[in-house]
Amino acid sequence: MNFTILGTGSAMPSLCKTNDDLSKFLDTSDEWIRARTGIEQRYLCGEESITDLSCLAAEEALREAGIGAADLDLILCATATSEYRIPSMACLVQERIGAQCAAFDINAACSGFLYALDIAAGYYARKKVKHMLVIGADALSEIVDWTDRSTAVIFADGAGAAVLGEGDDLLASRIGARGNRAVLYAENVKGNSPFRMRDSEDGAQCEEQYIHMDGQEVFRFASASMTRELKQLMKDAGLTGKDVSYVLPHQANRRIIDFASSKLPEIASERFLTNIEKRGNTSAASIPVLMDEYNKKGTFKHGDILLLTAFGGGLTTASCALRWNGKQYNK
Ligand code: ACO
Repeated sequence: MNFTILGTGSAMPSLCKTNDDLSKFLDTSDEWIRARTGIEQRYLCGEESITDLSCLAAEEALREAGIGAADLDLILCATATSEYRIPSMACLVQERIGAQCAAFDINAACSGFLYALDIAAGYYARKKVKHMLVIGADALSEIVDWTDRSTAVIFADGAGAAVLGEGDDLLASRIGARGNRAVLYAENVKGNSPFRMRDSEDGAQCEEQYIHMDGQEVFRFASASMTRELKQLMKDAGLTGKDVSYVLPHQANRRIIDFASSKLPEIASERFLTNIEKRGNTSAASIPVLMDEYNKKGTFKHGDILLLTAFGGGLTTASCALRWNGKQYNK
């Protein structure tokens, strides 16, 4: 036994910024960003915090699932940008929504939500839980260097959530990592220990915690791994391209999604769902937000087979195949 998805929810910040808004203070253009990434606009935390968004997404997912916070047995939150190092974001959410169960965070960058689903499957296999809340949430705008045009234009903020119940709808799940600090990293707070003797790993006395990314290297890794992981996932689940109703890929760059789609001609390209145009790359929130959006549009029907696939800092990869049995919405 593993799980079924009972309900989904998502929340975006109220502040929406277009490419033209960014080109007012960065040396960039709407034309460049659209052509190289597919992004037209993104939502960024202004007044609200990532915890606020996580709670909104969680409460919506609970409503849709038809259960209360008191019914939850575990809360898992995937994030790399929790407001606090202590307590975890999962504990902040637990307190605010009024749950009483165990709660913890995991960090696998953009792959985090799918890592969390994989962990969730273990709790169901051990029959430790009936209802779980899994959240993917990030506010990368808070660790982006807003003078660095190569990262500032792609990252964005948001939160997505799913409430799980007992079921058998996880058909296969794969997680992986190929440790590589150099291509994508953001350092942590250093503190002021009088005993600290070492510099940061690259030798510099680095005080800043902004995100650094070798975009081309990540692009190469992402394009190759998304295709490879989707093929292997279908094999693991005993599926062919014809069985697949929709692919929900991490929304990092439209060109990465198009590349993966071109290498999997047996899945029609319109089956690859996107919202990167309007939302940018929201890291761990990317897939649960995409899932919630298309769920509420009435796209998914009972029995549909969904392939979810992500890659991210670490470097990490994660993919899973799900049978959709959630609440049915009208188109
Ligand atoms: N506006 C205008 N020009 C730009 C911008 C910008 N915002 N950013 C870079 N450029 C310039 C560069 O300086 C370079 O100029 P040059 O040719 O004069 O040297 C030129 O555009 C091409 O730069 P590239 O880096 O080669 O651009 P590329 O086509 O690779 O696109 C991008 C960059 C969008 C970052 C791409 O590499 C990418 O999407 N990589 C993957 C990133 C990703 O998926 N991250 C997800 C993981 S995130 C996580 O886990 C938290």
